[in-house]
Amino acid sequence: MTQDELKGLVGQAALQHVVPGEIIGVGTGSTVNRFIDALATIKDRLPGAVSSSNASTERLQALGIRVFDANEVGELAVYIDGADEIDRRGFMIKGGGAALTREKIVAAQAKRFVCIADESKLVDALGRYPVPVEVIPMATQRLVRQFAALGGTAKVRLIDGVPLVTDNGQHILDVAGLRITDPPGFESEVNQWAGVVSVGVFARQKAAVCLLGTAGGVRTLAF
Ligand code: A5P
Repeated sequence: MTQDELKGLVGQAALQHVVPGEIIGVGTGSTVNRFIDALATIKDRLPGAVSSSNASTERLQALGIRVFDANEVGELAVYIDGADEIDRRGFMIKGGGAALTREKIVAAQAKRFVCIADESKLVDALGRYPVPVEVIPMATQRLVRQFAALGGTAKVRLIDGVPLVTDNGQHILDVAGLRITDPPGFESEVNQWAGVVSVGVFARQKAAVCLLGTAGGVRTLAF
């Protein structure tokens, strides 16, 4: 099966975790896009969704799914999102699509995080994928030096040669060369650095379950 087919498989499988009658939290990315397409087939059973990005909001609305502001609703039963890496404890790196801050906000509002990913995302230790960090632009060069002190190489994410601007109007640093053996400790430390909006290590908002797309079908990992 191709990676795209595996994404379709887990996007469809995630429907089993949608609670009928409940507003669903929806993440961002190519795997979630497949979930959103599947969600449209049961939209009559849902009041709507809280979305983690402008891109997902547009896709949901185009398919006739109502999108609520996070402040309009209370706790969500489930949040469904992809990951760039997930380890065997349910800790993740996210933010390859630059939506990490809103993803963390919606995940924090939900009781359960259901991760959907193809098997290439499963790792023994986080860090092969450069860690995305959303930053306030005036802090960028100091933060680059702070990551260098941890052994990481941080680069501003560019689109067509200019810094990518997130949905929150900020920039992204991608930090390569880190091996993150203590995700909760790393998240806590970097969250405290002045100028960091959020770090793409999801330790507090880790997955409760991962639906992993494999050549043999969907494997469910519970953490
Ligand atoms: C978006 O900011 C990310 O956190 C995505 O969830 C992550 O990059 C996975 O994306 P894909 O499903 O496109 O691989």
